[in-house]
Amino acid sequence: MHFPLALSLLPLATHAINIISSNDDGWAEINIRTLYDSLTAAGHSVVLSAPAENESGTGSDDATPTTLTEACEFDSCPSGSPAEGYNASQPRWNYVNSYPVTSIKYGINTLSPEYFDGAPALAVTGPNVGTNLGLDVFFSGTVGAATYAAEVGIPAIAFSGDTGSQTAWDVTTPTYSTVYAELATKVTDELVAAGTPYLPDEIWLNVNFGAVGDSTCTSADDFKFVLSRIFTAIPLLTPADVETCGSTRLPTETKVVDSDGCYASISVGLASDKLDANATMQAVVLDKLSGLLTCLE
Ligand SMILES: *[C@@H]1O[C@H](CO)[C@@H](O)[C@H](O)[C@H]1NC(C)=O
Ligand SMILES: *[C@@H]1O[C@H](CO)[C@@H](O)[C@H](O)[C@H]1NC(C)=O
Ligand SMILES: *[C@@H]1O[C@H](CO)[C@@H](O)[C@H](O)[C@H]1NC(C)=O
Repeated sequence: MHFPLALSLLPLATHAINIISSNDDGWAEINIRTLYDSLTAAGHSVVLSAPAENESGTGSDDATPTTLTEACEFDSCPSGSPAEGYNASQPRWNYVNSYPVTSIKYGINTLSPEYFDGAPALAVTGPNVGTNLGLDVFFSGTVGAATYAAEVGIPAIAFSGDTGSQTAWDVTTPTYSTVYAELATKVTDELVAAGTPYLPDEIWLNVNFGAVGDSTCTSADDFKFVLSRIFTAIPLLTPADVETCGSTRLPTETKVVDSDGCYASISVGLASDKLDANATMQAVVLDKLSGLLTCLE
């Protein structure tokens, strides 16, 4: 049988999946909107369900949403708006006037059945404005939302980036926001391409992107991904990590992100306590993301 050459040269199309998206910087912060555009352009079906206001640093807090008694952040909705709402011309962009966990819970329980006819295949949070390294994971709402999703059985990734400040959705997209969205899409697509289950039960990924400068690390292609630990290992006490890059001890994510060069760290966490997962779980992720991961130089 004869196949046209052009067809046989086409790369395998990335599998498009249903994704719920949240953050702690708020539904109208530009990073979550840039990521929405990037994941949608990659073919995924994305629904955004994030706090109405800046809820940075609220960890795993959860409370019944309430009617807005002030405007949503950046005047993105008027005071007096209902506890949950959406952009009338883009109903996939939803706010919840409560914490990050509450907002992703609403996305999973209420919006996903409507848009996806069931649970989302993946939860992504961020890109957070500012890194979430080490102890930060206990306070970050971006991490709180991701670990909530992982605990209810949805593979989850928390993304955070070093550069930028909280910025309204409706300005010219800053370069860092585009770079972080492209990097997050790259990780998502790589994980999805490795097939289901996307992650083992109860496992989430903490992904941190290093700084985007004016003349350094200005494009997603400049960045290298390194498998890392969330917390510093305690000598003689912490069990060995997965063996890679000639060692059974992974670098901490702080070390990776602070290294000279353009680096992004990927740590494998346990949702229940936000601590590092064991070497077996790290090995699953190393295998799935082997096409993306490199060693720290
Ligand atoms: C958002 O909240 C955090 C934590 O309270 C605070 O540090 C930050 O300045 C707030 N951002 C804005 C733009 O107000
Ligand atoms: C709502 O969506 C429209 C159309 O995409 C856009 O022009 C507007 O800025 C959006 N507003 C908010 C708060 O998302
Ligand atoms: C590693 O962690 C997983 C998930 O928590 C657990 O099911 C498994 O028993 C652990 N394996 C080892 C060797 O500790």
